[in-house]
Amino acid sequence: MAELYLITGGAGFIGSNVAEEILRQGGRVRIFDDFSTGFRENIEVLRKIDGDRVDVFEGDLRNFDQVRAAMQGVSYVSHQAALRSVERSVDDPLSSNAVNVDGTLHILAAAREAGVRRVVYASSSSVYGDSPDLPKQEKLTPSPVSPYAVSKLAAEHYCRVFTKLYGVETVSLRYFNVFGPRQSPKSQYAAVVPLFMRAALNGEPLEIHGDGKQSRDFTYIDNVVQANWRGFHSDGVAGEAFNVACGERHDLLEIADMIASLVGRDLPRRHIDRRRGDVMHTEASIDKIQSMMGYEPTVGFAEGMRRTFEALRKSLN
Ligand SMILES: NC(=O)c1ccc[n+]([C@@H]2O[C@H](COP(=O)([O-])OP(=O)(O)OC[C@H]3O[C@@H](n4cnc5c(N)ncnc54)[C@H](O)[C@@H]3O)[C@@H](O)[C@H]2O)c1
Repeated sequence: MAELYLITGGAGFIGSNVAEEILRQGGRVRIFDDFSTGFRENIEVLRKIDGDRVDVFEGDLRNFDQVRAAMQGVSYVSHQAALRSVERSVDDPLSSNAVNVDGTLHILAAAREAGVRRVVYASSSSVYGDSPDLPKQEKLTPSPVSPYAVSKLAAEHYCRVFTKLYGVETVSLRYFNVFGPRQSPKSQYAAVVPLFMRAALNGEPLEIHGDGKQSRDFTYIDNVVQANWRGFHSDGVAGEAFNVACGERHDLLEIADMIASLVGRDLPRRHIDRRRGDVMHTEASIDKIQSMMGYEPTVGFAEGMRRTFEALRKSLN
């Protein structure tokens, strides 16, 4: 029988894309999600690929009994579920900690009990904080500047400790601003690419925080999916953390210009206050993941933006 992968947050943006790849590679997936920011439509996409290899466990990471029950028979865990967004964590640090830190500890303890082969954990570039060193290398001392970043880093430490202390294999992937199809523009905490694209399609002004010169190593979803697959199956990487990115950065003004060229007209812009807890620039060194896992980004920024725009345009029609 095919290996069973537990995907926490599999109803969300990244988790559902990772689940799709596992199905394409012949695996079985169990989605663990509370549907707080995920969507049932994303599960339907998976069922269309092969409903017999998809099952859904509706549960909350904060409930250890539910996590343990979902772990039965699992070979690999892709731990994507979390309360994403720096801003959300500034508004409500207790919830971010409970889901992102306690929730990850529950996953690790249950994975240990169940004898899971490897847990791949979705960490974040936010752990580096606002240190001026660019590009960010994994050996830099992390310096979080938001509750979200603290929670992602604390969970990463738990991963490493579970590998060292109990032999549970873990791999932490520090994603740098992921974008692509199925990333929702709907919540107040939505990410900038779908937010700008939706505003452009609705004829609304693009709301730019600060002067728009803040820049990010924007990473198309296919590259992140590839890193996850390599994270499950590469040798000699247990207990390590890796940047997942493209190794270049783009600022918000550039994104606004690119979306204007995709819609074929000038777009009105409105500058509003900078977000609390946000860092100014991110840019990754991807040397470590290239050399230890053979990762190579396959879809660049401009092509990724084009694909994302097309997918969002279709979904809003
Ligand atoms: N999107 C990015 O740019 C980015 C960057 C760095 C790190 N990450 C990390 O990647 C992961 C996935 O992010 P995403 O963009 O797909 O977000 P998302 O909000 O689309 O997906 C998160 C999923 O987790 C589920 N979830 C939330 N709380 C839960 C709980 N208590 N119990 C069970 N399920 C719960 C949600 O319903 C949702 O389906 C997160 O861990 C996030 O911190 C994302």
